Amino acid sequence: MWVADMDFRTPDFIMEALRQRCEHEVLGYALPPESYWEAVCNWLLRHYNINSSREELHFIPGIVSGISFVLQAMTQPGEGVLVTTPVYPPFLNLPQDGHRQLVCSPLKIVDGRFAIDFEDLEWRARQCRWMILSNPHNPGGTVWGEEVLRRLADICYRNNVNVIADEIHADMTLSGHRHISFSTVSQHAKDISITFMAPSKTFNMAGLGSSVCYCPNTSLRNRFFGYLDGYEVAGGNIFAYVGAEAAFTHGEEWLKQMLRYLEGNVAFLRDYLSANLPQVKAVLPEASYLAWLDFSDMGFQHDELKDRFLNRARVAMNDGTTFGGNNYRCRFRLNLGCPRSVLEDCLNRICDALK
Ligand SMILES: Cc1ncc(COP(=O)(O)O)c(C=O)c1O
Repeated sequence: MWVADMDFRTPDFIMEALRQRCEHEVLGYALPPESYWEAVCNWLLRHYNINSSREELHFIPGIVSGISFVLQAMTQPGEGVLVTTPVYPPFLNLPQDGHRQLVCSPLKIVDGRFAIDFEDLEWRARQCRWMILSNPHNPGGTVWGEEVLRRLADICYRNNVNVIADEIHADMTLSGHRHISFSTVSQHAKDISITFMAPSKTFNMAGLGSSVCYCPNTSLRNRFFGYLDGYEVAGGNIFAYVGAEAAFTHGEEWLKQMLRYLEGNVAFLRDYLSANLPQVKAVLPEASYLAWLDFSDMGFQHDELKDRFLNRARVAMNDGTTFGGNNYRCRFRLNLGCPRSVLEDCLNRICDALK
């Protein structure tokens, strides 16, 4: 119940496109065809309200790699990189492993969802050159609203902080919420951002390594895309292009139905917790399938909880401390992108293991 992909089969229209490409039986070097770029541009317009031109886009073989490339190309060792915690662990590891100064602004939890502490963030932004934003947020799937993003963009702009907007989970925004792409909230946001998007989570095809980068600011783009091309680090493989094109061309209906199923899982988790584990405080996904569960009122130490989940329940969730350190002891991330029967079974086992 940990790594962020789903148990669902990759949809037929993607598998079929991959099979067809295999039929060709020549797997030499390939570039993304024009039809790939058309499919990407149309998807960005429909789902993100991004009216992109081809030159503003670059293929990226994976978003973690993309973030790493930005840090390598655009920052110097020792420079500050801002994140809001708890957050997807590579946001913490990439700056640290690259000897940048990691600066963490802890999120608050207000009414069961994450909220940015803007005063804290602004103070920390002064020490930073870049911010890595998960939009929507991983873990917990909080969808950032337009006002929140605009305020964030203003703070970053005022403090000369550029923003990497990681929007990998955006397509899976659940009913009642609307994804707002960071670069679209204001001119400031557009000027300071590099956005990453991908079909990989949405269509359960992360193993293909297929993502895309949007950078509307010419000078950021010249530097970043110049780095990608100069060092030749951002090439893809045939199946990454074929899979993404099929996803973005034929994916609407499958996505709609898949999201209804995920919503059912979120509702199931919410009801299960309130009936059986009312002490657990949860941040439930407004997008995607990664719930954040706080077991700190259950009367167990962190290591005891971990041991019970893994060795008694035989349920592997992500350890909360990997999302930002010891403040997140007794927190666990649960992946609910699975059949409801599996979710129910795991929750029953978690419940038993806590008895
Ligand atoms: C916020 C976020 N960014 C990036 C990734 C991974 O992206 P990729 O597989 O394209 O490197 C994940 C996967 O869990 C994620 O949650």
